[in-house]
Formats: sequence, structure tokens, C-alpha cells
Amino acid sequence: MSKVEIYYFSGTGNSLAVARDIARRLNGKLIPVMSVMDQDLIGKEADVIGMVFPIYDFKPPKLLADFIGKLADIGSKYLFAVSTYGVTPLKAMKKADADVAAQGGKLSAGFNVQMPHNGIGYGDISVDKQKEMFRNWDIKLDVVADYVDARKEGCLETTNVMTGFILSGMLFKALPSIASLLWHVMRHGWASMGFIADEKCSGCGTCVRVCPMQNISMAEQRPCWSDHCVSCFACIQWCPREAIRLGNYRANLFRYRHPEVKLSDMLRENRLGSTK
Ligand SMILES: Cc1cc2nc3c(=O)[nH]c(=O)nc-3n(C[C@H](O)[C@H](O)[C@H](O)COP(=O)(O)O)c2cc1C
Ligand code: SF4
Ligand code: SF4
Repeated sequence: MSKVEIYYFSGTGNSLAVARDIARRLNGKLIPVMSVMDQDLIGKEADVIGMVFPIYDFKPPKLLADFIGKLADIGSKYLFAVSTYGVTPLKAMKKADADVAAQGGKLSAGFNVQMPHNGIGYGDISVDKQKEMFRNWDIKLDVVADYVDARKEGCLETTNVMTGFILSGMLFKALPSIASLLWHVMRHGWASMGFIADEKCSGCGTCVRVCPMQNISMAEQRPCWSDHCVSCFACIQWCPREAIRLGNYRANLFRYRHPEVKLSDMLRENRLGSTK
């Protein structure tokens, strides 16, 4: 019988929820990417490897290429990828495909799943809209599972700017926020957008524990950010006080976490985190 391993990276739970569903359907093992990155060879025992990740700036997270570079005997595996995205992934799957090919493997399938956007600029997403996205995923789960079960090859989903961005209507909704963000950066520079904890911070340390990159430490009861952030927004979105901001940018940050993912689920990604 084939051994299936589903690896995931997630900041706010969308990719974790999707990976969990796929693992359940394919009778596979669910494994956080960050729990294996210190290993020299990953997935030695597996015949089928699934990789589930969010889209950042129309690409997979940079650490996906590092993960792929560590896959054991990559040429012998059936590999597939699933991205979760907020507005449009564009050609992100082509990038994942190229990363796999660079290591001598083949990405047999790549699917994209729209989920609520966890970044800034797109405003809030109504509960009804969120439920619609989750229902769409329930339907697409069958497609993904059947495709992988049959070991089919060749489907690499992409979107283009017209269908993905403009027709979704989200670009127009986001235009005022994007304009305000650009105006802020022009006046104050990107450096002014660093994370800070404001006066609402209670020093609870949740941000430290939830950061998958171990990029946050506490000093005098306040979080300090280091320089290996991957912009997953986990710290912002899991802070129980909504105390984390992007520097002096006064954006009305939309707080979002996948409703069926708990903080304890997320802490499994982080080797420092406890699951209390
Ligand atoms: C810094 C950042 C950049 C993002 N860039 C994109 C993007 O280019 N296209 C897109 O559709 N969604 C983008 N998103 C939205 C996420 O990909 C989406 O919400 C994803 O489902 C989050 O997954 P997670 O909950 O597993 O972290 C971005 C989110 C963040 C935080
Ligand atoms: S999670 Fe929020 S309240 Fe807790 S230490 Fe971090 S910034 Fe402060
Ligand atoms: S510091 Fe960066 S990597 Fe860590 S949780 Fe915050 S956004 Fe994610």
C-alpha cells in the first residue's frame, strides 16, 4: 500500500485546514513543514507527497524551495501541491513546478484553493463569503483526492490577471487601501512598516509561540522581531489583544483565522511552542 505524507505550512490556518482534509481523504500522515526542516532528508518512506502552502505575492513561500531541496529520492515520488490564496495565485504553481524540476523531480499536479485573505488591504470578508469559500473547497476536495488517488498527471492550475484579480471584484474593493499603503510607503519608506506591539499588548507571548520561524522573542514583556520573517501574518492574526500593527501605518487590519483551526493546532508547527 502507498504511503502518503501531506506537508503543510500555514500562518492563519487555511492551508492547515486544507491539508488536514486532504490527509483524511487520502489516509495520509499530516506533517508541519517546520517540524522537519532540520532534517537532511525528508519523506524517505513516502511514495506520495503532498505540499500545501499559502501564496505570498503571487508565489509559494520561499521556504518551499528549501523544503523541496531536502526531499529524499525525489525522482521516485508522486508529488502534488495545493496552494491556498486570497485573490489570485497567478503562476505560483509554475514556480513550484520549476523548484521540483530543479531537484530532478516532477510535480504531477498543482491545485489552487481560494480561501479568505489574511493579509492587509482587502478589507473584511463577510462570514457568508467565507462559508461560500469553505463550501467550494468541500467540493474541490473530491476533485483533488480523486486525481491523486488515480495518480493522474499534468494538471497545473494557474490564473491570469483578468480572471483572477479584476473579475473577482476584490481589486476594486482593495484600491483605496492599496493607494493608502503606497502613499504611506512613499512618504515614510518600507522601514516604517516593521511590526510593533502597541499599548494593548499584555506580554502573553502568544506571538512568540505561534511564529513558525521563531522570529520573535520577548524583552521586558514586549515582543521583538528579528530578521527572518516570512510574512505569514500569524503573529498579527493570533494576537489575542489585536495589539500588533505594521509600524506607524494605521491600517484597519482585517483580523482573520480559519474558524476550524485552534491555536493549539498552529503551535504544532513551531518546535518551541507548547500545545497547552
Ligand atoms: C504577505 C501576504 C501576501 C499575500 N499575497 C497573496 C497573493 O499574492 N495572492 C493571493 O491570492 N493571496 C495572497 N495572500 C493571501 C493568502 O495567500 C491566503 O489568505 C492564504 O489562504 C493564507 O493561508 P494560511 O491561512 O494557511 O496562512 C497573501 C497573504 C499575505 C499575508
Ligand atoms: S500576542 Fe499580542 S498581547 Fe501577546 S505578547 Fe504578542 S503582541 Fe503582546
Ligand atoms: S514574525 Fe513573520 S514569520 Fe513570524 S509570525 Fe510574524 S509574520 Fe509570521
